[in-house]
Amino acid sequence: MTIWQDLLDKAQSVQNRQIAELFENENRAAGFSRESGPFLFDFSKTNIDAETLDLLVELAEEKDVAARAEAMFSGAKINETEGRAVLHAALRNLDTDVFVDGENVMPEVRATYARMVDFARDVREGKFTGQGGAITDVVNIGIGGSDLGPAMATLALAPYHDGPRCHFVSNVDGAHIHDTLADLDPETTLVIVASKTFTTIETMTNAETAKRWMAAKVADPAQQFAALSTSAEKTAAFGIDASRVFGFADWVGGRYSMWGPIGLSLMIAIGPEDFADSLKGAAVMDAHFRAAPYAENLPVLLALVGIWHNQFCDYATRAVLPYDQRLARLPAYLQQLEMESNGKRVSMDGKDLPYHSGPVVWGEPGTNGQHAFYQLIHQGTRVIPCEFMVAAEGHEPDLAHQHLLLVANCLAQSEALMRGRSLDEATAIMRKKGLDGAERDRQARHRVFPGSRPSTTLLYPKLTPEVFGGIVALYEHRVFVEGVILGINSFDQWGVELGKELALALAPVLSGEDSGEGKDGSTRQLVARIRALRG
Ligand code: F6P
Repeated sequence: MTIWQDLLDKAQSVQNRQIAELFENENRAAGFSRESGPFLFDFSKTNIDAETLDLLVELAEEKDVAARAEAMFSGAKINETEGRAVLHAALRNLDTDVFVDGENVMPEVRATYARMVDFARDVREGKFTGQGGAITDVVNIGIGGSDLGPAMATLALAPYHDGPRCHFVSNVDGAHIHDTLADLDPETTLVIVASKTFTTIETMTNAETAKRWMAAKVADPAQQFAALSTSAEKTAAFGIDASRVFGFADWVGGRYSMWGPIGLSLMIAIGPEDFADSLKGAAVMDAHFRAAPYAENLPVLLALVGIWHNQFCDYATRAVLPYDQRLARLPAYLQQLEMESNGKRVSMDGKDLPYHSGPVVWGEPGTNGQHAFYQLIHQGTRVIPCEFMVAAEGHEPDLAHQHLLLVANCLAQSEALMRGRSLDEATAIMRKKGLDGAERDRQARHRVFPGSRPSTTLLYPKLTPEVFGGIVALYEHRVFVEGVILGINSFDQWGVELGKELALALAPVLSGEDSGEGKDGSTRQLVARIRALRG
């Protein structure tokens, strides 16, 4: 625990140091930024100095992140509570053989990928049609990792979208599927049921609803359904022909699954070539993660900055702020990636963690957040590390002036967070406005920004499929490294089980088939009121 303790001591010793002071060293920006491929990761506006960075790198060495990463890439069963390998990276490194239990898993991965490409082409080119003509709309029904990845990616890559329209239904709230299907024509709609397990209640309920909706208009609804799942048995039982079932193995975690069959809706939207480019971008990030020394390694550095802020500085949350409207769903995607992966309370060996687990991740695209919650980030009493990301260039050459304004806002925010505004500066402003005495001082205090609020910036040239793939892989590996350092299993999610079990038990209580005996008083009261309100 000595490196850990040294880092805790270090965090204490620098807590009152202004980050801006670090820029007295004119090499600060270059010294605390790293580049890889299209990315520049600037973490100079944090309170990490050379000594801290060395300690953090030592921590990664002590935890042997590289060995664990190699275990992951080579198919070892590092998801120990479920006895599974963790091989989502294999889905984007299609030329590299990987063995699980002595068997090469790649021939099947390649064969499924080839079938996806054929199917996506057929849909896009009108060779696969609905019962009323070419497919105009694709509805992906899934939840969690079977929704967030493709939904986030389809929006991110909107400029490349030249296939049928894509819609994503996740919520069991009937409003979601109702409103989505309302404007669609069943005769030209393809429904993709995306569920690793094919048992998830929300997805299966929505899938049944979609089937009924289609059956009202087309003779053979199942013909316009495809399935993405690990369970061939269950997809067959649902009535989906094997030719439109795209399977994958249990070593693809739900929240890591957009690179394979779960990405089918994205592939149909942007086409197999652009989809392949996103895999390529991710594979380049994989190679960088495996080869670069820790102090040069983007995913490792992102993880170390995150650990510094969360575990050592005790900042409980992290804001992800893409200055990129098309990354609007990225914060939600990263929320699942980080919080489902690293929101654990025991270490790999089942012992209570002696420190906090992963942070709360949240965010919104800039500049919208600036006019909503940035107030608290600038002047609230809690420190919230911010992760900005921005492209140098947008996709709309005729709107380049707007992009410039977007970038200016992004840079201005990180500058303002770091610099702040002192009482003297605020007082001078109030004086200029003609105030003096106690009123001037009172007004000035409201205009003080403490500054020294940490942020990082990820800069990339343009949000192309390749860059996009790199960003997602960067974050996946970041979460992995954080999990290794914390000594937890980032690949299970037992914490979602209890709520699911209780919901199943409560449905008959709500419908009156079960008395609800044994439920707590609050739950019984809510059930009674709901039943009364429903009449
Ligand atoms: O309940 C959590 C979870 O298992 C996630 O991990 C997963 O992404 C989501 O549900 C959906 O699961 P499935 O793809 O099996 O429907």
